Amino acid sequence: MDFPNTRMRRYRKNSKIRDIVRETKLNKEDFIYPIYVKEDLKDDEKEPISTMPGEYRYSLNGAVEYAKSLEAKGLKSIIVFGLPNEDKKDEIASPAFSPTGIVQKTVRKLKAETNLVVITDVCLCQYTSHGHCGLLKENDDTDFGYEILNDESLEYLAKTALSHAEAGADIVAPSDMMDGRVEAIRRTLDEAGYYNTMIMSYSVKFASSFYAPFREAACSAPSAGNRKSYQMDPANAREAIREAELDIIEGTDFLMVKPALPYLDIIKAVKDEFNLPLVTYNVSGEYSMIMAGIENGYLREDSIMESLLSIKRAGADLIISNFTPYVLDHL
Ligand code: PBG
Ligand code: ZN
Repeated sequence: MDFPNTRMRRYRKNSKIRDIVRETKLNKEDFIYPIYVKEDLKDDEKEPISTMPGEYRYSLNGAVEYAKSLEAKGLKSIIVFGLPNEDKKDEIASPAFSPTGIVQKTVRKLKAETNLVVITDVCLCQYTSHGHCGLLKENDDTDFGYEILNDESLEYLAKTALSHAEAGADIVAPSDMMDGRVEAIRRTLDEAGYYNTMIMSYSVKFASSFYAPFREAACSAPSAGNRKSYQMDPANAREAIREAELDIIEGTDFLMVKPALPYLDIIKAVKDEFNLPLVTYNVSGEYSMIMAGIENGYLREDSIMESLLSIKRAGADLIISNFTPYVLDHL
């Protein structure tokens, strides 16, 4: 049945019709807010992040107060990133697994004072003196003279995840991309009795230039080299399926694709292949690029919801995004 019997524009006649035929909808509970908590900030101090308009580094108390205000607007879950004091950073990321570390303290307070699902980012890069996501060793057969050790790093990642679980985290989210880390974390959590603590693995994480604003925010840029020997090559789609498959075998409860907007094909492919809840990370660069467009008058604010909708349409169940406060105000 073609024209004039079929008229697609009938579906678009007015907003009432459009509302009932809409296929994809964003909900407040789809959004996870990433919060950056800095150890050496006092109570009501907050630092604007120059590369991310409208975003801040919070103190422990400031972060919890802000989380409460978002919860009052309908926020359900939050992911905590810690920024330890510079002088505590070392070769083995000690402040990452300290029971009195900034993430551990924030988790305890969030669990005591809110009903949010509390997720923690598990990685070493914010806590190592060299800024890499694992331990380092000299090795000439690499791009920059250092190897990021895989198996040796697992122990420290698992210790970090366990310290987050002990503080009360509902979900731990390893973002390091070492092989075998989901298995190591699952085993360590289970041995300590934390069999109900969930794992949200950053399964498919690309070596992306869209993380640049975050590295400025979290002071976590590697001091030498790059992350290409552990994060995925942006050119590879089939490899994404293998990464996701391995994480499932190792026991992850969620899959994640990161970044989101430049990787919508990967989101769709992973969603079509597996049945786990699929998280996507709408990363700092995706946020800042749209914010810069709006601030310069090149884009209108509608571009925010349109880009988030495209991520959901591609197959995301959950979206980690710096736009979460905006979404809570506009849905
Ligand atoms: C660290 C980490 C990064 C992000 C989350 N965890 C950056 C990186 O891998 O260099 C990116 C978040 C963002 O850009 O919003 N492992
Ligand atoms: Zn890292």
